[in-house]
Amino acid sequence: MPRVLLFTGKGGVGKTTCAAATALACASRGQRTLVLSTDPAHSLADAVDRPLGPEPQQIAPRLDAMEVDLYYSMRKYWGNMRELVRSVLRFQGADAIAAEELAALPGMGEGSALLWLDEMARSGDYDVIVLDAAPTGETLTLLTLPQVTQWWLQKAFPLQKQAIKTVGFAVRKTTGVPLDRGYEELDRLFGQLEVVQTLLQDPDVTSARLVMNPERMVIQEAKRAYTYLQLYGYGVDAAIVNRVIQGEAEGVMAKYVQAQGGYLEEIEQSFSPLPVLQVPHLGQEVFGLELLAQIAEGLYADRDPAAVYHSEPSYKVEAEGDAYTVALRVPGAEPGDIEAEQFGDNLVVQIANQRRNVTLPAFLAYYKLTGAALADGWLRAEFEPEE
Ligand SMILES: Nc1ncnc2c1ncn2[C@@H]1O[C@H](COP(=O)(O)OP(=O)(O)O)[C@@H](O)[C@H]1O
Ligand SMILES: [Mg+2]
Repeated sequence: MPRVLLFTGKGGVGKTTCAAATALACASRGQRTLVLSTDPAHSLADAVDRPLGPEPQQIAPRLDAMEVDLYYSMRKYWGNMRELVRSVLRFQGADAIAAEELAALPGMGEGSALLWLDEMARSGDYDVIVLDAAPTGETLTLLTLPQVTQWWLQKAFPLQKQAIKTVGFAVRKTTGVPLDRGYEELDRLFGQLEVVQTLLQDPDVTSARLVMNPERMVIQEAKRAYTYLQLYGYGVDAAIVNRVIQGEAEGVMAKYVQAQGGYLEEIEQSFSPLPVLQVPHLGQEVFGLELLAQIAEGLYADRDPAAVYHSEPSYKVEAEGDAYTVALRVPGAEPGDIEAEQFGDNLVVQIANQRRNVTLPAFLAYYKLTGAALADGWLRAEFEPEE
């Protein structure tokens, strides 16, 4: 199995830049590497400063790159399903072009990205696959797609499977709509997605890295992503703060740099015990392999970019009847006074020498904090339903 590194974060924070830089660094260390952009708003070609296509192509020694293209993937992986959707739509009177567009059903973009990952992982051609993923919301859709499809497969389809097979054949005969073939395709696809999921949920194989900037809105989104990734069982092994301005700034940037210090501290408090990697602002746009190498230097110096930087879970939510416990890993926290406060879906905890500021799963905003205690390196905060 190759190692899989997934970069996500808010739009514009530097996901593509960090993903490409990481891939380049892996390749320079001798690992056969692929960087795969799954963000429909592709910018990988700009980052590496050369045109890219929907299949892997070499851009440096041991380094391949590609941008997933939904329409190309639809032809490659699910010809029958596309045919099915198109013929159903045309049957209902939609014209051919509209039918082609509509054949891109929700989830297909994410699905095709996962199928590419599956194929590339199985090819044996790569030691490391770097995913330049979409912004956090879409990435969570991507990562939960296999679970959602499994649910459909197990709950909704088993009963209909035989019916669709029999009826589908008759439908194809009389109307030309390939219902049965489309179904077979779907069945095969769902099976494949299940395989990709095992790959993504194995923390020794896949690590997500959260990219952010020292800015309020960006940090909020990254915190939420961190919480949800852990809730869904994905390994997150580093937080990356990109575009950190170094040294003193004057004029228009002075205030920005002053605020930056506070945000860097908040990031430590929000993502600890994850390692926080800082990347300096290069003072210019980053494109081309030379500048990407500088980004990689800032990120990893002489560490192995493909190593697992953090492996133990640090956030757990447990249900007990009506109540919930949120457990936070706080290694090295000294016993002492604990102060815990809830602000909507945020929890702020001060434990003697340590401070934590985490985002709660959204539903806990409707619960109230009733107590917090420290034991065995874990802080456990108790929540009960609001009256
Ligand atoms: N460390 C950095 N220093 C200077 N510019 C950067 C840095 N990281 C990213 N950029 C620039 O910021 C912009 C957004 O980066 P990009 O990687 O495309 O973000 P995303 O993929 O998250 O949307 C690009 O113009 C890129 O060149
Ligand atoms: Mg991008």
